[in-house]
Amino acid sequence: MPDLYPFARRILFSFNAETAHHLTLSGMKAARSIGVLSGLTGGGESPAQPVEVMGLRFPNRVGLAAGLDKKGEAVGAFGELGFGHVEIGTVTPRPQPGNEKPRLFRLKEHEAIINRMGFNNPGVEGLLENVSHSRKGFSGVLGINVGKNFDTPNEDFLSDYLDCFEAVYGAADYVTANLSSPNTKGLRDLQSADTCRDLIRKMQEKRDELRPKYDGKTVPIVIKIAPDLSDDAIKGLAEVFSETQVDGVITTNTTIERAAVAGHPLENEAGGLSGAPLTEHSTEVLALLRSEMDQQIPVIGSGGVMTAADAKAKFDAGAALVQVYTGLVYRGPELVREIAELPE
Ligand SMILES: Cc1cc2nc3c(=O)[nH]c(=O)nc-3n(C[C@H](O)[C@H](O)[C@H](O)COP(=O)(O)O)c2cc1C
Repeated sequence: MPDLYPFARRILFSFNAETAHHLTLSGMKAARSIGVLSGLTGGGESPAQPVEVMGLRFPNRVGLAAGLDKKGEAVGAFGELGFGHVEIGTVTPRPQPGNEKPRLFRLKEHEAIINRMGFNNPGVEGLLENVSHSRKGFSGVLGINVGKNFDTPNEDFLSDYLDCFEAVYGAADYVTANLSSPNTKGLRDLQSADTCRDLIRKMQEKRDELRPKYDGKTVPIVIKIAPDLSDDAIKGLAEVFSETQVDGVITTNTTIERAAVAGHPLENEAGGLSGAPLTEHSTEVLALLRSEMDQQIPVIGSGGVMTAADAKAKFDAGAALVQVYTGLVYRGPELVREIAELPE
């Protein structure tokens, strides 16, 4: 099957980044609805290499990172592209429009993206309604990534995370608490050791309360951290994760660092930078956390996975799974297949 993505990419890149994003999702949904998506993308052909992580069976080790399917509208379609898990969101309790446009920029020369989307999402009830349709036929693992509304003061952040957790409990295979987006004011302050410990404990208490209502279902709790933490802060968080026995950690979100793209005309756009400039540092954060944290707690590697070799570097640094966002934009579904086929 020839790789059609370079051709599709030429067309998509002729539009501004956000329009291309919407065209891609609508195109995928339409192609799936008439049964031609996996034929067009060559998806679903990877040999299954299932792994067990956080007590869940993942069909392979590569997943879609949060933020691409913020509304949960294309879960099954991403499954057909070959992803073993799909993380949707970030979703907040109430719907919100996100930041003003333009808020998404391609830095082609660097195979990178800067975004300041600001959690545009349909709210947790809207997302659940979408998922009830879009997950039909999906046999992978569904992660739901939760956050707080932009106008919820930081003192009250706990109730936003707990309300979302409760609302998605029945639908999610695992839930990620996003503490690391640079585009919601004050969000990354929630990564302080005390605040993070408190959040994990409260989510665990909520889970104890919900488990009997869901026939004993235990939803793993995952924390997603930023790449811009100091080594000491990472070590402090590793202690918190070990002490609380959180179920998993995602390293990393996007970076506010710009050194790798210095001199580019878009370097001063506010937001988080993702893609190739993030690869190395995000793997360093992963390796440091891995070495400092209880070995039983899995780490999921996200950040600049642009090639199968980048994914292998994350597995070699101790990742149990990897996730892709910007790599999909630049390389297309072929990348997913290449990673899924990496020997264990
Ligand atoms: C446009 C865009 C939107 C994103 N939105 C979210 C989000 O809502 N929640 C989240 O946890 N991460 C979000 N991310 C971060 C990605 O999930 C991922 O962690 C990060 O981009 C690094 O991976 P990459 O280099 O493969 O893109 C977003 C990334 C991009 C590029």
